[in-house]
Amino acid sequence: MTLQGKRILLIISGGIAAYKSLDLIRRLRERGASVRPLMTAGAQAFVTPLAVGALAADKVFTDLFSREDEHDVGHIRLARDCDLVLIAPATADLMAKMAHGLADDLASTVLLATIRPVLVAPAMNPRMWAHPATRRNHATLAADGIRFVGPASGEMAESGEKGEGRMAEPLEIVAAAEALLDDSLKPLAGKTAIVTSGPTHEPIDPVRYIANRSSGKQGHAIAGELARLGAEVTLVSGPVTIADPKGVRVVRVERAEEMRDAVLAALPADIAVMVAAVADWRVETAAGNKIKKRPGETPPPLVLTENPDILKAVGHHSLRPKLVVGFAAETQDVAENGRAKLERKGADYIVANDVSPHTGVMGGDRNTVKIIGKASDEDWPDMDKRAVAERLGRLIASHFS
Ligand code: C5P
Repeated sequence: MTLQGKRILLIISGGIAAYKSLDLIRRLRERGASVRPLMTAGAQAFVTPLAVGALAADKVFTDLFSREDEHDVGHIRLARDCDLVLIAPATADLMAKMAHGLADDLASTVLLATIRPVLVAPAMNPRMWAHPATRRNHATLAADGIRFVGPASGEMAESGEKGEGRMAEPLEIVAAAEALLDDSLKPLAGKTAIVTSGPTHEPIDPVRYIANRSSGKQGHAIAGELARLGAEVTLVSGPVTIADPKGVRVVRVERAEEMRDAVLAALPADIAVMVAAVADWRVETAAGNKIKKRPGETPPPLVLTENPDILKAVGHHSLRPKLVVGFAAETQDVAENGRAKLERKGADYIVANDVSPHTGVMGGDRNTVKIIGKASDEDWPDMDKRAVAERLGRLIASHFS
């Protein structure tokens, strides 16, 4: 692993740990990286732009409204002309700004504009790190795909207080940057994947529809994870209210038939993960106009017809992906029903979960799944849906290594 030829935009924010950034610049350059420094106003109270610029052998960017800088490079180019954005040290304040999308200085504006991976080395007082507000911001940023290194435990430079909050050591930060930029972390590079997510809405008339409680959280997390592992991902999503995952092509659909068409149009692919809670039935003939309620009349009957089974169509398709994964939302006999589905739908794995109301899985953030494979089953412990996505990503990648 090396950083040879990598361009790193190093954002230094205000904190006593900023003195370590000087060493960090040396370490990054020793490994062949070029370092373009950007300092917040706070950072300049701790180390001088002169020292930072001398060690980086580059201009130090400090001002959002500098006419000269904007003319020369501009904050958008600054945000993009790099392979990695590294923030060391990152203050609680800068993390809060990032988590909320604020852009009131050069650092926060660049962070909002960047499309590059972002690695954060937080440094702050242990109480600030442990504060619920920082905990929330940390979780939000992690969910946005931002990576962290540290903080470490130990004694604080200024107060002598002990606890988590000390910036990771420069060599540790260098290792995390190397790991993040290492192409071997992209085991699915060159592979294509189709992921379905969310519910489907099956119209009754122009204003009413049949739906289910799926939030799309699990499917979206899987799509984002496969993209992070290097796959080119098409996410076919039913109506959801959550954000699109990073680096993924999203095709939005409403009905099961539209979802089927979008999935089949995305073939061929190497991987298919069908997570969507597709409605089993649709109304046979949806009314063209809103069905009126008329006094004295009995309620209209809903005549249902079966929807196409998308997973089954993909599992038995002439362009069947090398790996086909289905989900099975069950409220009883999870393992038995899952195994039967594996066969019937032509899948390589069924990820079976119990969606009984007491589990809170539907719409919630956590999931307890059983992985049903052709040869054996595996029970995974209760995990955050993102953790399920990461582990499933590793399992999928193991089939391509
Ligand atoms: O048969 P069941 O709905 O329980 O199967 C669940 C699995 O099949 C999920 O992976 C789901 O995305 C997929 N499915 C589908 N099309 C349907 C029904 C389910 O792709 N019409």
